[in-house]
Amino acid sequence: MKNWKVKFSSQIVSFFLEGKFAAIDKIVEKSNAFYITDENVYALHQKKFKGKKTIIIPAGEEHKQQATVDFIIEALLNLGATREAVLIGVGGGVVTDMVGYVAGVYMRGVAVGFVPTTILAMVDASIGGKNGIDIGLYKNMVGLIRQPSFLVYDIDFLKTLPKHQWENGFAEIIKHAAIKDAAMMKALASHDLSYYQKNKKALQLLIEKNVQIKVKVVQQDEFEKGDRKLLNFGHTLGHAIENGHAIENQHALLHGHAISIGMVYAAKISQVMEGFNDTGLLVDTLKKYGLPTSMHFDIDQAMQIMQKDKKKTGASMQFVVLKKIGKAVYQSVPMKSLEKLIKLYS
Ligand SMILES: NC(=O)c1ccc[n+]([C@@H]2O[C@H](COP(=O)([O-])OP(=O)(O)OC[C@H]3O[C@@H](n4cnc5c(N)ncnc54)[C@H](O)[C@@H]3O)[C@@H](O)[C@H]2O)c1
Ligand SMILES: [Zn+2]
Repeated sequence: MKNWKVKFSSQIVSFFLEGKFAAIDKIVEKSNAFYITDENVYALHQKKFKGKKTIIIPAGEEHKQQATVDFIIEALLNLGATREAVLIGVGGGVVTDMVGYVAGVYMRGVAVGFVPTTILAMVDASIGGKNGIDIGLYKNMVGLIRQPSFLVYDIDFLKTLPKHQWENGFAEIIKHAAIKDAAMMKALASHDLSYYQKNKKALQLLIEKNVQIKVKVVQQDEFEKGDRKLLNFGHTLGHAIENGHAIENQHALLHGHAISIGMVYAAKISQVMEGFNDTGLLVDTLKKYGLPTSMHFDIDQAMQIMQKDKKKTGASMQFVVLKKIGKAVYQSVPMKSLEKLIKLYS
């Protein structure tokens, strides 16, 4: 497997971008390999796990909790995992976040590798070393920043990924294009979701480009003092809409759908603040990937949720805006102005 080695502050991470799941046998000694996956991925790809020590956890964000961490740790002890163990998280961001965290604390830290199986995990969640769990409804409240040893990209897993999960991942891809890569936005705008679903080569290339974007941003700012904040484009209001929806409805709003709407608002706010003039291109592109570009939501409630946002300091919010497609900056915006602008565009 072709190995792209990336240096982070404390660790060199191997990216096997055109990797094969089966080839992990060549990089990890079998007796030390402990696979952890969720019930959905396991059910759909059972054959791949034959003969491997595998721990299966329940699927879904609601299980990204300490109880599942305890379950994994007990299973590792029962399987005889020592300090030499290499944990291999196979799944979406829920699995990679949790397995990364367990690896950080099990016997004070063992090695970990990821096989991301959703687009979102491939281009976003599994990269950058942030891991952790939710505490009740509070997302990612406990965790570490700790890099994995390797990531294996095997797009064969995507054959079973449901369509809404593709949309979810493409929201982050379009985000990357918006903040860092105008040429990618152009390419995305000239195709649509089904093109990438059918065209393996194009998909592979697109994923690789997105991995590179996230890697570069994280490498320059591993501990989120500066530029890593740009990855929050669309996420400030997006999270507020996502959480507000969760309070009022039984079913959750898909993260990608929420940030899609957040990006449209952020683009419009960029018009006022930075003279940005390409909102139309962003909106058209989002639509091509099945993403919503407007939605009715409770603005007062969204403002209340944003008051608790980690990016808020004093009466202002660190808000990411676009100068043009491919060029983002963050600015401190007073909450009062933010509210006015959101109301203006609703
Ligand atoms: N650490 C980070 O920097 C970071 C960044 C972004 C998101 N995240 C986290 O990632 C999580 C979201 O990740 P996600 O969207 O991958 O969610 P997920 O892990 O819940 O996966 C989504 C669904 O797809 C299923 N699935 C996974 N792979 C599949 C496949 N190949 N075929 C069929 N079904 C499959 C899963 O079982 C699940 O039901 C959140 O918890 C979020 O906080 C972390
Ligand atoms: Zn996101």
